[in-house]
Amino acid sequence: MVFKLSVGLLALATAVSAANYKRVACPDGVHTASNEACCVFFELADFLQTNNFNSTCGEDAHEALRLTFHDAIAFSFMGGPSMGTGADGSIMLFEDIELMNPANNGVDDAIDALKPLLMQFNVTAGDLIQFAGAVGVSNCPGAPRLEFLAGRPNATFPAVTGLVPLPEENVNDIFARMEDAGFSPTELVSLLASHTVARSDTLINDRQAVPFDSTPFTFDTQVFLEVLLKGNETLPPASGEADAQVPNALAAQGEMRLQSDFAIAQSPQTACFWQSMVNNQAAVTQGFHDAMAKLAVVGQDTSKLIDCSEAVPMAVPAVSKPATFPAGTGPELLMLACNSPFPALATDPGVPTTIPECPDGDTNLNDCPS
Ligand code: HEM
Ligand SMILES: *[C@@H]1O[C@H](CO)[C@@H](O)[C@H](O)[C@H]1NC(C)=O
Ligand SMILES: *[C@@H]1O[C@H](CO)[C@@H](O)[C@H](O)[C@H]1NC(C)=O
Ligand SMILES: *[C@@H]1O[C@H](CO)[C@@H](O)[C@H](O)[C@H]1NC(C)=O
Ligand SMILES: *[C@@H]1O[C@H](CO)[C@@H](O)[C@H](O)[C@H]1NC(C)=O
Repeated sequence: MVFKLSVGLLALATAVSAANYKRVACPDGVHTASNEACCVFFELADFLQTNNFNSTCGEDAHEALRLTFHDAIAFSFMGGPSMGTGADGSIMLFEDIELMNPANNGVDDAIDALKPLLMQFNVTAGDLIQFAGAVGVSNCPGAPRLEFLAGRPNATFPAVTGLVPLPEENVNDIFARMEDAGFSPTELVSLLASHTVARSDTLINDRQAVPFDSTPFTFDTQVFLEVLLKGNETLPPASGEADAQVPNALAAQGEMRLQSDFAIAQSPQTACFWQSMVNNQAAVTQGFHDAMAKLAVVGQDTSKLIDCSEAVPMAVPAVSKPATFPAGTGPELLMLACNSPFPALATDPGVPTTIPECPDGDTNLNDCPS
């Protein structure tokens, strides 16, 4: 007994000293890092959590996550490197050009919030964008702690227009665009877990923060369920945005459904995988982790990057609540293009209610503290 205990302590002491031996002290006097190139990211994480995100899964965290996609996806195997160099910061460095693309409507907020940090921290724009997204989503209960590799060079030219998918596009065109950047249709489904912490600021007339599911502040599986519900109501579209959404079951509760999410949930290529995400928190979290690890380095030479994942905050654990049909809906509304068995889920009790607008429960439509 005594012998076993001392062996255990010895092993522990050895492991701890081996770990410490490799770490360097950072210039801030607070952090240690596995590589000195990671030091700046510990400082950046603290700054973002305090000043940008308030350590919550609010509007600014959502917008930072969306920006990771809009920067990275501007890459084409078919078109070659002259079309864009992927996760390279070009959307921030050449915002005057890239934000003319309507597919980038709304990403200006994230750029405005993050770009000043380039003057304050010695990081490139591509690193800043991917790191901020990882820190932001770590605040969303149920999200994974994403990988972060550092060292993307600054983009030297803007991406061409047409590489960022639009919600009104034909589903097979969207699949083709994603394949051209290195993503399979099922990897796209895994990435679309992001729409569980998402709200539109641009698609609905006179409204901001219109959610894609009933729980926009938790990284749960509700979006995979709610996109499958038959519905016949549409919120009034903003001018020119009529085709971005399809009618849904929860419009009366203030929710919208993207045409693209709907079509991907119903496509023969992805319907079974989409349905398998419902109430499957572990698969959603793992799939998003793995697909985001690819997204974050699109177009980059990973042999030149340094693993600084240790600077990404530990993620907030999932709320341990199974997926449920929102009040007023139920299994009779399911539109299932795949024959696989569907989980038996409860329906939230009570009458349908408006989805809260802010993490603090504030229901003012346009005034969410962020
Ligand atoms: C087929 C691909 C996709 C399409 C067509 C699409 C489309 C959209 C649209 C139209 C919005 C609403 C923007 C607004 O009106 O403010 C949105 C929001 C969002 N998207 Fe996607 N998206 C796609 C893939 C992704 C991916 C791969 C990510 C992962 C990083 C992502 C993350 C987000 C987030 C986090 C938001 C919410 C932003 C906020 O709440 O402010 N999207 N998306
Ligand atoms: C920051 O978040 C906390 C809860 O986590 C909240 O009480 C506080 O009001 C928030 N501050 C701002 C400025 O939004
Ligand atoms: C900025 O960071 C790079 C890469 O880590 C480093 O080579 C360079 O010396 C740093 N510059 C300053 C001014 O600290
Ligand atoms: C990347 O560009 C930003 C903005 O112009 C600049 O502040 C930063 O020093 C650049 N970094 C490198 C390594 O060139
Ligand atoms: C719309 O859907 C609701 C809920 O499923 C249903 O009660 C109503 O009859 C439908 N209205 C029309 C016009 O189909």
